[in-house]
Amino acid sequence: MKILVTGGAGYIGSHTVRALLGAGHSVVVLDNLSSGHAQALPEGVPLVKADLLDQAAVQEALSVHQPDAVVHFAALIEVGESMSQPGRYYRNNVVGSLNLLTAIAQTRKIPIVFSSTAALYGDAEVSPIPEDAPKQPTSVYGETKLMTEQMIQAFERAHGIRSIRLRYFNVCGAVPDGSIGEDHVNKTHLIELALLTALGQREKMMIYGDDYPTRDGTCIRDYIHVLDLAQAHVLAVEALAQGAGSSAYNVGLGHGFTVREVLDAVDAVIEGSDYAPLTRELAPRRAGDPPSLVADSSSIQQSLGWKPEYVDLQGIIQTAWEWHRTHPHGFQD
Ligand code: UFG
Repeated sequence: MKILVTGGAGYIGSHTVRALLGAGHSVVVLDNLSSGHAQALPEGVPLVKADLLDQAAVQEALSVHQPDAVVHFAALIEVGESMSQPGRYYRNNVVGSLNLLTAIAQTRKIPIVFSSTAALYGDAEVSPIPEDAPKQPTSVYGETKLMTEQMIQAFERAHGIRSIRLRYFNVCGAVPDGSIGEDHVNKTHLIELALLTALGQREKMMIYGDDYPTRDGTCIRDYIHVLDLAQAHVLAVEALAQGAGSSAYNVGLGHGFTVREVLDAVDAVIEGSDYAPLTRELAPRRAGDPPSLVADSSSIQQSLGWKPEYVDLQGIIQTAWEWHRTHPHGFQD
């Protein structure tokens, strides 16, 4: 199959591009490179440098490349930033997705795999969280993803566009050979920041709040390896190609770690090297952070046969460490 991957030059996108190629598919990437890196793409993968806000460009990409399916990552992704710059998030994530859906409806009506998020559950009352839990995002970021899921379903009702919406929990890690990894312009993710702090690029790690109702007062998240998540996209695209109906699946390991536990795991990974343990400092809560997000992923395991390979947090962090240690300045190295 030929698959158009929006945001394919980004962190999760570039790992998924590799997984799709590895499964024998061909890929075209559409990315505005606002946060993605062309160097993250394997040689020979066509890159359409375009913004989803440019609907004519999106339509042209679909007409020229004639893909059989779309995997849609392109979006702004920071919970904290979405609270201070809501307009950017609604415009990029909601209007950008609307343009893509409109272009699909007007051209090929191909199925779509959508990069959704656990953030749409907000302050979930049950843990682990099943897909039918109430959707009550605590951040604008989560709202934009929920609104996009709703638009996708409306486009299915009106135009027959099938979808699989994958709700990611906290994605981390990198390909084990350290050749690509996480390199965000604004660094906000816990594990990336901790490893860059270990490398001496930052003085200390801030812990955003220790008065949450969790076992040590810090937020709990379900950390999933990016390659396991990439494989979920391959399975989703292939299921849709074989005629599967639309669904939404959580993708996580079903086990959560507190911020302090993650920092302890980072210390354990770097222990024995030349790097000192992390200095930690308590800071106020970050706006929009729910206390706990842990996935019930039994549905994707049963329906698509997805099975995570990386189930050990230190092992996951080790792969991220390999990338950051060998590329301390990311794709600039
Ligand atoms: N945190 C710190 N210090 C830091 C950075 C983060 O204490 O320096 C805390 C955060 O407050 C949060 C936890 O670590 O409690 C994880 O924060 P991240 O920024 O790494 O990730 P988020 O949980 O905020 O968000 C990520 C993705 C979202 C996705 C969500 C789903 O960025 O796109 O996971 O669980 F929706």
